[in-house]
Amino acid sequence: MGNFVKVAHRGEIPVGQGKCVEVEGKRIAIFNVNGAYYAIDGICPHQGGPLGEGELDGTVVTCPWHGWEFDVTTGVNRDDSDIQQQQFAVKVDGDDILVEV
Ligand code: FES
Repeated sequence: MGNFVKVAHRGEIPVGQGKCVEVEGKRIAIFNVNGAYYAIDGICPHQGGPLGEGELDGTVVTCPWHGWEFDVTTGVNRDDSDIQQQQFAVKVDGDDILVEV
């Protein structure tokens, strides 16, 4: 079990949006899918694009650099299911969003 670290306020990540955060040297992308938060490795495995800045459509984020798509609830790439981003547990405590690292 890792530690849960506060990364954002709930108001910073509205429904349908994401955010890039850095926690203990890891770049993590957090998304709000209809009020549920999901966190995955924020570095696109293609060429390192910032997934947290990608557009979220339902549960799918599109990398802003070249358009690779990932399901944020599983970390799995939509075109190649062998590619999967690491996932991180997310906890909400009052107004705070915490990620386990
Ligand atoms: S860096 Fe993400 S699609 Fe190229």
